[in-house]
Amino acid sequence: MRGSANGAFAVTSQTMRSAKIALSALLCAALVAACDSGSEPVAVAAWAPPAESEIPADSFGASVRRGLALLRFTPESLPAYATSSLRCTSCHQFDGRKESAPPLITAHARYPRYLDRTGAVVSIQDRVNYCFTRSLAGNALPGNSREMSDIIAYLAFLSRGAPVGGLPSVPTGMAPMAEMLVGDTTRGRELFTATCVTCHGVDGAGAILGVPALWGAQSYSIGASMARHERGAAFIFRNMPQDKPGSLTAQDAFDLSAYVNSHERPDSPGKEFDFPGGDAPADVPYATRGHTPPRPTPRLLPRANPDGATVPAPPSVRRGAP
Ligand code: HEC
Ligand code: HEC
Repeated sequence: MRGSANGAFAVTSQTMRSAKIALSALLCAALVAACDSGSEPVAVAAWAPPAESEIPADSFGASVRRGLALLRFTPESLPAYATSSLRCTSCHQFDGRKESAPPLITAHARYPRYLDRTGAVVSIQDRVNYCFTRSLAGNALPGNSREMSDIIAYLAFLSRGAPVGGLPSVPTGMAPMAEMLVGDTTRGRELFTATCVTCHGVDGAGAILGVPALWGAQSYSIGASMARHERGAAFIFRNMPQDKPGSLTAQDAFDLSAYVNSHERPDSPGKEFDFPGGDAPADVPYATRGHTPPRPTPRLLPRANPDGATVPAPPSVRRGAP
C-alpha cells in the first residue's frame, strides 16, 4: 500500500500548496501595491548535456551510438565522404563536449539558424555538410541517409533538455581571441619545429597514427573556419599542443596559425560566393564580395569531386558577381 500512501501524501501536499497559493492571492488582492507577482525564487539547476552513459537502450539510443561512432571514426566509417585524415572529433574534441574546441553541445537546439557565410537560414543537415565539405575536405552526405540521421540523433542527444535557441550560459562556437595580432610565419615555423612536429610531422601530414594533417591534400580545405587566421589561432591557443594546452601565448598562436595556414591545402569550390551580404570577417583567406584577403591565398589543390565538395545554396540565396 506504499503507492497509495505516497498518493495520499501527494494529495495532502498539493492541497496545502493550493491553500498557500489561495492565501497569498487573497493577501495580494488586499495589498496589491506591496505584492510582486513572483513568490519565492525557485532554484533552477544549471543545464548540462547528458553523459554518454545516459544514451537510452532503445532504437533512438542505437542511432545516437552510431552517430557518435561516425564522429569518432569518420574516415574509417565513411571513406567515400570523409576523404582526408580528419575526423569530426579532430576539431570537436571530447565528442563535441569541449567548450573551446568548438562545442556541439547545444548545436541541435540552435538550428535552423541564419549563417552570414551562407547569407541564409540553414538546416542542421546543411551545417553538418559544411563540415564534411570544408573542414573534412570531403563530400556532402545525402541529407536523407541513415548516417546523416544518426549524426543528427547524436547532436539531438547532446542538446537534450536545452531550450530551442540554446542557453546564454552555454558557450557556442570558439570564443574570439581578445586581440587580433599579426602572425609571423618565420617565428611560426620555429615554434612549429619546437612544439608541434613530434605529433604533426615536419611536413604537417601527421607523424603519429591518428594525428590529423595540418596542411596538404589530407587536411582541411581553404573554406574551413580553421583556415582563417584568427579562427586557427583561437583553436591552437586553447587546445594545442594536445599534451600541454594553455602553454602558448596569444602571439605564439597567431604565429603558428600564420605558418600552418600559409601552406597548400584543398580548394573549396564556390568559396567566392561566401558572405553574399559583403560582410566577410577580415581574416577570410580568399576573395568574396567586397572582401580582399589580408595575406596571399596559399596554393590550392583541386578537389577530386568538385560536385560533392559543395552544399547547394538554399533557394533564398541569390548569387551575384562576387
Ligand atoms: C577542421 C576542423 C573541423 C572538423 C574536422 C569538423 N568541424 Fe564542425 N565545425 C568546426 C568549426 C570551426 C565550426 C564553427 C564553430 C563556430 O560557429 O565558431 C564548426 C561547426 C560545426 C557545427 C555547428 C555548431 C554550431 O554551434 O553552430 C556542427 C553541427 C558541426 N560543426 C558538425 C561537425 C561534424 C558532424 C563533423 C564531422 C563530419 C565536423 N563538424 C568536423 C570545425 C570542424
Ligand atoms: C601530443 C601530440 C600533439 C602535439 C604536440 C600537437 N598536436 Fe595538434 N593535434 C593532435 C591531435 C591528436 C589532434 C586531433 C584532436 C583529437 O583527436 O583529440 C590535433 C589537432 C590539431 C588541429 C586541428 C585538426 C587539424 O588537423 O587541423 C590543429 C590546427 C592542431 N592540432 C595544431 C597544432 C599545433 C599548431 C601544434 C603545436 C603548437 C600542435 N597541434 C601540437 C596532437 C598534437
